[in-house]
Amino acid sequence: GRFRGEIEFRNVWFAYEGEDWVLKDVSFKVEPGETVALVGATGAGKTSIINLICRFYDVNRGQILVDGVDIRDMRQSDLRRQIGVVQQDVFLFSGDIKYNIRLNDTEIDDEKIREVARYTNAHRFIETKPNKYDEEVTERGGTLSAGQRQLLAFARALAFDPAILILDEATSAVDTETESLIQDALEKITRGRTTIIIAHRLSTVQHADKIIVLHKGRIRECGTHEELLEKRGLYYKLYLL
Ligand code: CTP
Ligand code: MG
Repeated sequence: GRFRGEIEFRNVWFAYEGEDWVLKDVSFKVEPGETVALVGATGAGKTSIINLICRFYDVNRGQILVDGVDIRDMRQSDLRRQIGVVQQDVFLFSGDIKYNIRLNDTEIDDEKIREVARYTNAHRFIETKPNKYDEEVTERGGTLSAGQRQLLAFARALAFDPAILILDEATSAVDTETESLIQDALEKITRGRTTIIIAHRLSTVQHADKIIVLHKGRIRECGTHEELLEKRGLYYKLYLL
């Protein structure tokens, strides 16, 4: 069945092979349906947190629980369907646009592909391509702009109606027109899902239910935008930059 979308980090320590600690004793909990923003300077560990939730890497110490279950005890296929990820570098496969939305999951039919493309505002640009949904793209994108690749990534991430959505700098490489297309769709897309957002522009994270401020691999502060401004700590400093 569908996940509820609760995420909990319990005293997580993590280092990339042979490197220093990147995450140090990180603990936090995200309730189902909440939107949480991760902020902090470059290298603070934001993307590493995402890499662990997706199990691109495993923790060295501690635990990550989704709906109360250690993700190491879950099936990779379940995690992949229940966690939609959009990262800065969109990974495309040579094949048509349809394939790049559904990948190898043949249970996603043409109707579903169109539906999710409309929902994420990707449909409009796809319709402008000579072969529409059958347009061939290459790993480097082919005829797609950076913004179009990003819209495609959103459609792919949402194809399974995931309980959890993760956006890592997801609109940083796109033109302002695409960004506003994404912003328009974002409220609808995140509704009813647990969402983790990473963005350098703090204006885009203000409305999060909770903001986690990372500093050199540790959680420095956590709270709402208003609470953190009032605190006049690291978030306040970053916000003034
Ligand atoms: N790192 C590493 N090996 C990798 C990826 C990252 O050693 N394959 C290191 C980085 O050099 C950095 C630390 O891990 O010191 C945290 O990286 P990351 O989580 O990617 O930092 P972010 O907070 O995501 O930084 P940015 O804002 O630049 O994306
Ligand atoms: Mg990052």
